[in-house]
Amino acid sequence: MPDDVSKHGMWSSRLLFVLAAAGSAVGLGNLWKFPYITGENGGGAFVVVYLVCIALIGIPVMMAEVMLGRAGRQSPINTIRALTERAGGDAWWPLIGWMGVVAGFLILSFYAVIAGWAIFYIFRLARGEFDGTDGSGANDAFNNFLAEPLEVTLWHTVFIAATVFIVARGVVGGLEVAVRWLMPVLFVLLILLVGYAAIYGDFAQGFSFLFSFDADKLSVGGVLTAMGHAFFTLSLGMGAIMAYGAYVPANTSIGTTAVTIAVLDTVVALAAGLAIFPIVFATPGLEPGTGPGLLFVTVPVAFGSLPLGAIVGAVFFILVSFAAVTSAISLTEPAIAFLVEEYNAKRPRVAITIGAACWLLGIGSVLSFNVWADVHIVGELTFFDFVDYVSGKILLPLGGLLIALFAGWVLPRAIAKEQLGLEQGWKWQVWTIGIRFVAPIGVVIVFAYTIYESAMA
Ligand code: PFF
Repeated sequence: MPDDVSKHGMWSSRLLFVLAAAGSAVGLGNLWKFPYITGENGGGAFVVVYLVCIALIGIPVMMAEVMLGRAGRQSPINTIRALTERAGGDAWWPLIGWMGVVAGFLILSFYAVIAGWAIFYIFRLARGEFDGTDGSGANDAFNNFLAEPLEVTLWHTVFIAATVFIVARGVVGGLEVAVRWLMPVLFVLLILLVGYAAIYGDFAQGFSFLFSFDADKLSVGGVLTAMGHAFFTLSLGMGAIMAYGAYVPANTSIGTTAVTIAVLDTVVALAAGLAIFPIVFATPGLEPGTGPGLLFVTVPVAFGSLPLGAIVGAVFFILVSFAAVTSAISLTEPAIAFLVEEYNAKRPRVAITIGAACWLLGIGSVLSFNVWADVHIVGELTFFDFVDYVSGKILLPLGGLLIALFAGWVLPRAIAKEQLGLEQGWKWQVWTIGIRFVAPIGVVIVFAYTIYESAMA
């Protein structure tokens, strides 16, 4: 069936699609961002809002992205364009794809900077720099590093180069090798770290911080942050999963894979929280609301006091870096696939161009932590905060909203039924209600609530 393959390649099996999508979903969002924003937003109640968003909004939107991608078999922009034509819909729907390209570009620019920190920490731990370190030692070490723009730029460059290298080789060839063994090893190390936290940390307090529901601690901004993060952590709202969906074999069940990926991603995030917060509470000088440095101060403290900690800690940051690469690749895929389709361009050339542009924009985030620390783009937001805000809290949820509306209301039902392998039964009803009402209304409520409460404040 020449009609049912993508010109960019195909996953060699259902399992490889799950691994690739999980590789995209599991990344800095789980290991770095989830713990630090949970810490800043007071814990439990924030986590509950995040979990509700994953279940009610994330899963339907993920199914929609895979389904649309597989029905179109092209880059998100051209997939939506083709499906809109088939449905006789408005010509502006492909805007979803364009917004996604912009979001991916913005996200990769700062993502690469943070991933660069992780690469540097491989060497820091391996050198034994943190042997016997305490909270304030780890804090100082982190701040001193961030104060050096050239050093941070060096690691940012290394990360962009690695991403470009893999992307240039093609998603399938470059990625399948990486995810096959990475995911399981990451999992094992994370469990080890949770074990450490359970023995040496204040596990009870860490656990209750993560899971006890105290609505008073949740700010208005926290609700939007939680929803935005649900999109970010599952790689939704910008077409990354839609692009990967274009390479999915026809016989794969979309519902089962979407739920599997969402569960895996959530388990990794919660495990990261269970590893980090007990250490935070047991270590003088550390606190949950530390901000973006949280991962980079708690993990060295934990490994710094263990026998073989330097080696195991270095391995941990190797895995963080790999998890970041497998996500970064997916951030570029919508743009790459589009440029290859439109201009018949060669992947390596396109990859280098996009990498260079993201690298340049990323310098703004590098400087946000030193030279430009007092430069505010809007309100209190530094350049890094601003790029993070626009992509994560506006573009991804808005993209997700439009994807849900498109899949629920514009796409011909016959295509959806065929893709999902569903007939009229209850599963079809649940899907229809989820994608037509629950997911879009959920996004709109959070947006409206945030705007209303901020205007009142
Ligand atoms: N999901 C990735 C993470 O949690 O680190 C980040 C990400 C990848 C976001 C791809 C968006 C995306 F399209």
